[in-house]
Amino acid sequence: MKKAALFSVLLGLVVTLSLMSSCSKKSSGSSTSTGPTLYDSLGGSTMVSDPANPGTMIEQGRLGIRSVLDSTIFVIAGDTLINGFFQVLLAEVTAGNTSGYTALSNNLTDFICVATGSTDYKYGGKSMTDAHNPGTNSRISGYVTTAAFNEFIADVVVGAKQNNLPSNLITSVGALLETLEGTIVQSSPVQ
Ligand code: HEM
Repeated sequence: MKKAALFSVLLGLVVTLSLMSSCSKKSSGSSTSTGPTLYDSLGGSTMVSDPANPGTMIEQGRLGIRSVLDSTIFVIAGDTLINGFFQVLLAEVTAGNTSGYTALSNNLTDFICVATGSTDYKYGGKSMTDAHNPGTNSRISGYVTTAAFNEFIADVVVGAKQNNLPSNLITSVGALLETLEGTIVQSSPVQ
């Protein structure tokens, strides 16, 4: 697909999704951990209005995470080093079907909320191993290499900077993601 066409498709997508995005908050409540979590540092469970859903509230931590990840998906879509892994998603979006995008945005957001210490959301998607194995996830177009993994992290950093995340938090989120490399880069894929 031509870069300009892809850009315009995704720009439309971001605008559309900003009007219809949803989340899967389990219940209200605060963390029971003794010290502040990374989720707390990202905004925590303070309720704020959701700019994507007028009239609804969202935890500030989740909003920040969702914003970074939605920006990151946009960055990845234009990154020819790794957008080939997302062929299914890009084909859907190009055809005007945003269901896969919405599912991915919600799953990624849930996953990072939980991974950073939120107790108010749950992740219901595939394990990291299954999600990144083409034998168990037909939506990924190949096994992830170390180079692709590093490029993905670089794209998350771009997405975070686009949302003005402070550099110390970008470092913390990057370090968290790095710990998942062993489950995502699979040198001996399990079918
Ligand atoms: C630490 C980094 C990463 C995290 C936390 C992560 C997380 C996730 C999650 C939560 C899903 C959704 C699983 C589901 O639908 O059940 C997913 C899907 C996917 N991931 Fe990753 N991922 C990471 C790195 C990567 C990398 C490096 C690549 C490739 C370069 C990649 C490519 C994909 C693809 C193609 C999908 C399917 C997208 C779709 O549903 O259309 N991921 N990932």
